[in-house]
Amino acid sequence: MEVVICRDYDEMSAKAGAAVADVVKAKPKAVLGFATGSSPIGLYKELIRMHKDEGLDFSKCLTFNLDEYCGLSGDHPQSYWYFMHENLFNHINVPKGKVNVPSGTEADHAAFCRAYEEKIAKAGGIDVQVLGIGSDGHIAFNEPTSSLGSRTRMVTLTEQTIDDNARFFEKREDVPRHAISMGVGTVMEAKKCVMVVNGANKAEALAAMVEGPVTSMITASALQWHPDAVVFVDEAASANLKMRDYYLWVQKSKSEA
Ligand code: GLP
Repeated sequence: MEVVICRDYDEMSAKAGAAVADVVKAKPKAVLGFATGSSPIGLYKELIRMHKDEGLDFSKCLTFNLDEYCGLSGDHPQSYWYFMHENLFNHINVPKGKVNVPSGTEADHAAFCRAYEEKIAKAGGIDVQVLGIGSDGHIAFNEPTSSLGSRTRMVTLTEQTIDDNARFFEKREDVPRHAISMGVGTVMEAKKCVMVVNGANKAEALAAMVEGPVTSMITASALQWHPDAVVFVDEAASANLKMRDYYLWVQKSKSEA
């Protein structure tokens, strides 16, 4: 796993945004995997800037989001459908029919999840998957003890995740307890993963993911097995990394090569 330590949130967002944009430039019909949360908002701003200022073209792209809360329809301001349109899709030229966000309102969740997996496979798989990390080390909504081979399915959120995400809702009781989430196995099949991690509250989870054992207790640690995963982190999030100096040395050596 490549770890890129950045000065601050802005540098992290710019570098991660450039990594995603490179995939789109190399393959105009790229299949893009997107994540929600506060961490990738700067990355999305960077993609919007590149679209507006540099003509970065998403018109042939197809997108798949990681997850969605159960019970919230797309017009709910806290739904991930709404979040993605507010923070990205309404500001770039990806055709509306090419956007896929799991639906949290299907009566037959299992059938929907199977169809979502099939749609990703039919598209040829995800070329680049954007990721954040939960404070308990989860990716998408794969909570601790999720199988590292899991596929898209309905999951139950931990109380910690409900607490973490309560800040976006009027009251804690409004946070759904269930979500539809791509599995760890689904994420691992993306050709490239670009993760953004910022803030001191993520320092512990980041160190466990990068330098701890591969374990379903930290589902993001599965990325240690991924052949092309890059993690862009800010100073605060990097505080607990034992190999911090090495990661800085690698980046310095790369830039001087
Ligand atoms: C949710 C999402 C994750 C995201 C995490 C962290 O749990 N399902 O995909 O990585 O929140 O969010 P934030 O970036 O706001 O800390």
